[in-house]
Amino acid sequence: MPGFELFSDLERKEVNDVLDNGVLMRYGFDGMRKGHWKAKALEAELATTFKSNHVQLVSSGTAAVSVALASAGVGAGDEVIMPTFTFVASFEAIMMLGAIPVLVDIDDTLTLDPKAVKAAITPKTKAVMIVQMCGSMGNMEALSKICNDHNLIFVEDACQAIGGSYKGKPLGSIADLGCFSFDFVKTITCGEGGAVVTNNKAYYINADHFSDHGHDHVGNDRGAETHPFLGYNFRISELHAAVGLAQVRRLPEFIAIQKRNYTILRNALTEIPEVTFRNVPDGGEESYAFLNFFMPDLELAQKVTAAFKANGVDACWNYYQNNWHYIRKWNHLKDLKSLYPISSEVKKGLEYLKTKSFDQSDHYISRNISCLIKLSWTEKEVKERADKMAQLISSAIN
Ligand SMILES: Cc1ncc(COP(=O)(O)O)c(C=O)c1O
Repeated sequence: MPGFELFSDLERKEVNDVLDNGVLMRYGFDGMRKGHWKAKALEAELATTFKSNHVQLVSSGTAAVSVALASAGVGAGDEVIMPTFTFVASFEAIMMLGAIPVLVDIDDTLTLDPKAVKAAITPKTKAVMIVQMCGSMGNMEALSKICNDHNLIFVEDACQAIGGSYKGKPLGSIADLGCFSFDFVKTITCGEGGAVVTNNKAYYINADHFSDHGHDHVGNDRGAETHPFLGYNFRISELHAAVGLAQVRRLPEFIAIQKRNYTILRNALTEIPEVTFRNVPDGGEESYAFLNFFMPDLELAQKVTAAFKANGVDACWNYYQNNWHYIRKWNHLKDLKSLYPISSEVKKGLEYLKTKSFDQSDHYISRNISCLIKLSWTEKEVKERADKMAQLISSAIN
């Protein structure tokens, strides 16, 4: 999946433009730039990629989720419904705003179960955030309908899903706001970076100002700009944006390689009756960043993961055992370990984490194995890997 596997002269050229003019800041210094505005150019490319009106680049995917939620007015005491299978950043971003993450079960799509979302809505619910883990999606139509019916903000954490689509729309462009990460291990990378995508002009203007100390970005004298509201610094640098600009232009090439590699692996595993695959809703096309499959039970999933590891099939995980992506082992968050006091409202709102079990999520995550798809494999290497994976799974079963 990571774009860094295929760095080329294209990335070097964009970075050299920035180093040549010396302007590493995305705003201002117009006279020195020699016409290079890498962050602006990347925003324009991303708007085309995501078929969306507005894109605001920020410093990370974590920042993108916080900025997106803040831009839509999510804050102190608001509840945000999100899935149990996620990256810890999605939880952190909600906490940063003083809001309350309300975790709910996933289904066989490996993300939000619409029934669980509906059941979790309270008068305090302000937003629903789907996390499109491992390159695919949930039932976007059902989730959009729930949000519309209950007047909730719908957010896509599409940090892992660039290149996927649902009914012709790019993932990240379907809900009110979409969030992307361009960190070092994503399909396209800036090193560190992220983006907020929206068709809502007011949310976009909020994101633009909020991610730069509240600056209104009117005129060309930064010191004279006004600040309509509180903001922080979540800016991306020109150097990071330069790398991303070269990478985003290569996205179709990267997705095609992911799809080829994914398809070879999947075809080999399809032969094994005990293996089933993650459900991709009708009309959805995943980004092929990961191959996700289910074993019949946890014991077999663990046996297969261990056999893969012992035999050089790297980058395959059973997230049930993982400390970062699934609620089961987030003890620091269950125990509310924080460097600074957390509001009593949030403490109370998170009490459920101490006792609530997520049996339906356990059912899927315990049996799931997620295998990263690399871009740098040759076709021969993928075929050998596919054969090896199929053999190891078959011997674990028999
Ligand atoms: C689903 C998800 N959300 C948010 C993030 C955070 O992105 P970043 O590392 O750019 O802060 C990640 C990163 O892995 C992610 O996978």
